[in-house]
Amino acid sequence: LGDLNAIKALFRAFLLTGIAVAAGAGFHAGEGGATGASLTFAGQVAPILNAQCVTCHRGDGVAPSIPLVTYEDARRFGARIKQQVRSRLMPPWPADDKHSMPFRNDPKLTQQDIDTLSAWVDRGMIRGQDAAPQPLSATQKGWLHPQGRAPDAVVALPTYTVKPNGEVPYIQVRVKVPFQGDRWISAIQVRPSNLALVHHLGITEVSGGNGMTPEKMAEVAEAARRMGLAPDAFVATAPVVSDPENPKAYDMLGIYTPGTTFESYGEGNDKLLRGGPNNYLNFNVHYTATGREETDRTELALWFDPNPPKHQLLRVPAAGKTILANGHELLTDDQGTKAEGTDFAIPPIPPNTESYALVGVTAFSKPVVLYQFQPHAHLRAKDFTYTVVYPDGREQTVLSVPKYDFHWQLAYELATPLELPAGSKLVVSAHYDNSAKNAELVKMSARDTTGNCGPDKQTYFKRLNQSWDEMFSPMIQYAVANEKPGSGSTRSAAGRPGGGGSAPIVEAVGCLSEKSSGKWFLTRASTASDSASQATSRQELNAMAGRALGDRTYDLIGVGPFGPAGHTGHVVAVKGALIGSNGNGRVNVTSLETLRDVCK
Ligand code: HEC
Repeated sequence: LGDLNAIKALFRAFLLTGIAVAAGAGFHAGEGGATGASLTFAGQVAPILNAQCVTCHRGDGVAPSIPLVTYEDARRFGARIKQQVRSRLMPPWPADDKHSMPFRNDPKLTQQDIDTLSAWVDRGMIRGQDAAPQPLSATQKGWLHPQGRAPDAVVALPTYTVKPNGEVPYIQVRVKVPFQGDRWISAIQVRPSNLALVHHLGITEVSGGNGMTPEKMAEVAEAARRMGLAPDAFVATAPVVSDPENPKAYDMLGIYTPGTTFESYGEGNDKLLRGGPNNYLNFNVHYTATGREETDRTELALWFDPNPPKHQLLRVPAAGKTILANGHELLTDDQGTKAEGTDFAIPPIPPNTESYALVGVTAFSKPVVLYQFQPHAHLRAKDFTYTVVYPDGREQTVLSVPKYDFHWQLAYELATPLELPAGSKLVVSAHYDNSAKNAELVKMSARDTTGNCGPDKQTYFKRLNQSWDEMFSPMIQYAVANEKPGSGSTRSAAGRPGGGGSAPIVEAVGCLSEKSSGKWFLTRASTASDSASQATSRQELNAMAGRALGDRTYDLIGVGPFGPAGHTGHVVAVKGALIGSNGNGRVNVTSLETLRDVCK
């Protein structure tokens, strides 16, 4: 039956183009065109625009000034369409194919589609029959579910008015989860009504404790804000859905950044939203002033899955467990404010610095599945690279964004979810340009009325960041492979996971040596013992300095980011995921610090 329908569709397309040829009297398509005899808006162009462009290019999309819905629209912007698709600037997709895994939401046009659009423009932009593309169904109303399904629930925030200029404090607003019981979410869309105003927003689910109304919470948050503290400084909220690998960490239910639209999780995968008397959806909304007083009313749409999934997806900052700044490993008890989403005070970027490097490292002690990567930073980020270090030492770049673009902070959805065995590690590296070579930064500082922006300013990674501050927030969406969906938030932290093996985080002291080029070993090592964290503090290093060397040898993998050459022959403290037996195992390194310069 499927085949029959396909044949019918083909036949219909053939009929339409046939009519178009007749209508376009005297018109003869040249050879080499992607689509044969005739090219019309109705026949070949509208289907491409509908599939690849109109989600953004329409009155209520992110590019309302360039609608591409009707024949008249497409004709008006014809030359620019040709220019944009031939230069591959549209649809936007900053990832580099050659150094990334395939992504299922990759919107790039095929060469054939590019040729079709170009040829249509060159040949006079003929309308064809049946010229209007399929109008969007009324139920969709800007909701982008590919099957046209209306959302199962829509949560609307209050309308906010943003003053024309100056710093706009973060708005934190909590909305009661509008039902009891759990809901499995198969798709989500965050839709601001005013795209120019919304810089980004994050959504988590929090439990407010007994008797806390949203109003009371708002009052307390406002009091904290007036004292210059984070809005949640006085409210003892707890995550409702947390990361089983790190029970204090929230699962980010949703993120809106420029360029993101609709997000779905694929067959067998959902996110969890829990109903309950004290459960709230917490929105952290960051507006930026536009020079005019404007208003916004943001909505969150949810599509539910009637059945529990095979995998529960969790969205967390990927590589925040260890951070290195310009090759220097940060310690968890370093002085300073912890940067948003991390456990570290990231040192500021000095003025006029062309390249400032951050690397984040996170090892997984259980088997996990990766689904999605979403690098987030502000105007100074130049590039992002996500690399996996497997337990056998093999390294694979899974996402490369060679030219990070603040305007296109896309979420990259793996075409095939990537299964990582216990003891794997994710390493994310990013570079920042805080110099006059950064055109976006220069542009922003020219418009900036607050005096906070520009390459001549020292740039901070704060707890809550304005657009002139910086962030290092390489998000991932992942699942713990053997975790029963929904169990993460109630599971006790004790006990080793069963099934699929585990690679506990351990620590040891020993001598760092390089046996053959690129292969590193910890020799004369103490027996590795369980460690509470992947990163290290000054306090822990002081304690480990007193530890005796031993007779173990550990194979060290994924050492590159720690600059091992600078530690060769030293007594070092190492942490990481232990693979294999403790006697002669391998450690996927998450921390490496010199304790003494001489190995004795
Ligand atoms: C994810 C959203 C998105 C998608 C998908 C998308 N665009 Fe765009 N496009 C934009 C935005 C945003 C702009 C900037 C609009 C502005 O400057 O007001 C833009 C700009 C353009 C421009 C004007 C650029 C210029 O400077 O002349 C053209 C032409 C264009 N897009 C064509 C396309 C075509 C053709 C497709 C599909 C093949 C497409 N776009 C897909 C969001 C998108």
